[in-house]
Amino acid sequence: MPDGDTGNVLEVRDLRTVFQTRGGEVHAVNSVSFEVKPGELLGVVGESGSGKSVTMMSLVGLLPSPPAEVREGRVLLAGEDLLRVTPARLREVRGGEVGFIFQDPMTSLNPVFTVGYQIMEPIRRHMGLGKKQARERAVELLELVGIPSARDRLSDYPHQFSGGMRQRVMIAMALACDPKVLIADEPTTALDVTIQAQILEIVADLRARLGMAIVWITHDLGVIAGIADRVLVMYGGQVVEQAPVHPLFNDPRHPYTRALLRTIPTVTGARAEKLEVIEGQPPILGAAPTACPFRDRCPLVFDRCHAENPAREVVAPEHDVACFHPSARSGTGGAS
Ligand SMILES: Nc1ncnc2c1ncn2[C@@H]1O[C@H](COP(=O)(O)OP(=O)(O)O)[C@@H](O)[C@H]1O
Ligand SMILES: [Mg+2]
Repeated sequence: MPDGDTGNVLEVRDLRTVFQTRGGEVHAVNSVSFEVKPGELLGVVGESGSGKSVTMMSLVGLLPSPPAEVREGRVLLAGEDLLRVTPARLREVRGGEVGFIFQDPMTSLNPVFTVGYQIMEPIRRHMGLGKKQARERAVELLELVGIPSARDRLSDYPHQFSGGMRQRVMIAMALACDPKVLIADEPTTALDVTIQAQILEIVADLRARLGMAIVWITHDLGVIAGIADRVLVMYGGQVVEQAPVHPLFNDPRHPYTRALLRTIPTVTGARAEKLEVIEGQPPILGAAPTACPFRDRCPLVFDRCHAENPAREVVAPEHDVACFHPSARSGTGGAS
């Protein structure tokens, strides 16, 4: 089947990103593969440092090189390999077909320009609209993300908005050019719970209305339980499990996913001291892994885990896991 005909909006194959540091090479992304289907919401979870951001930034050339080097892989956007296009084409993709929302809007919004200018600029650049049309589109976008008195607020500067409203402006900017995929990298982590819930609601609503695919990155599995169609679990720069949301929560196979699930507070007011934490530290990334990255924290570790890095294997429809333990394959017993 030719690349363009897979039916996926985005397809990432064997992506490998390495940082050159004084201490040697840091293999931050190790042969990561995944796909994003049209209109779906893909959740990407994993503890801090598991390679989520580096993976997403590698897709569209957002990492400074050096020190970063995307060494291997293919990133197919409707069949076009983004690792092999010109810098000019990549700039066009960023903020065009692929939109980004980051955790801290202040790092993406420029404090010296009005919000209106910052939303209109990419619209004019990518979509070739005139000033007046771009202005109307900016108003429409701000209304879409629920900013009151949108027209009046075009002339305001980022600092004149609250944290939650700035995040909405960021979403409006990311949506400006009708992206096929919107990548949201922990966009609600810095916000309080009520505003987090509002932002999630806006995004879910936008997806339904605009039909774009969303990749929602978080270190908190609880956040995506209610909104994701499919979930990718990352650990130590690798994908360790992938499944549709229901099996991921009800039949998790990787010992790490099982541990992550136990860290979610229950709805019935579990107290903080009752939350289980995963013992041990995430691996310090260095050389390319030759063993299972989770072996030092895994309750099910056995000799093979020290000798080989498990590849992802399909265990159920659309469900794969990278673990040698028989319980990961059969779905019985396990770490619980
Ligand atoms: N500039 C850098 N130089 C060296 N290593 C880096 C750099 N940025 C990220 N890394 C490495 O990549 C790993 C993954 O980082 P990141 O993708 O930001 O994690 P996540 O988003 O999952 O919290 C880090 O643990 C670190 O080892
Ligand atoms: Mg990150």
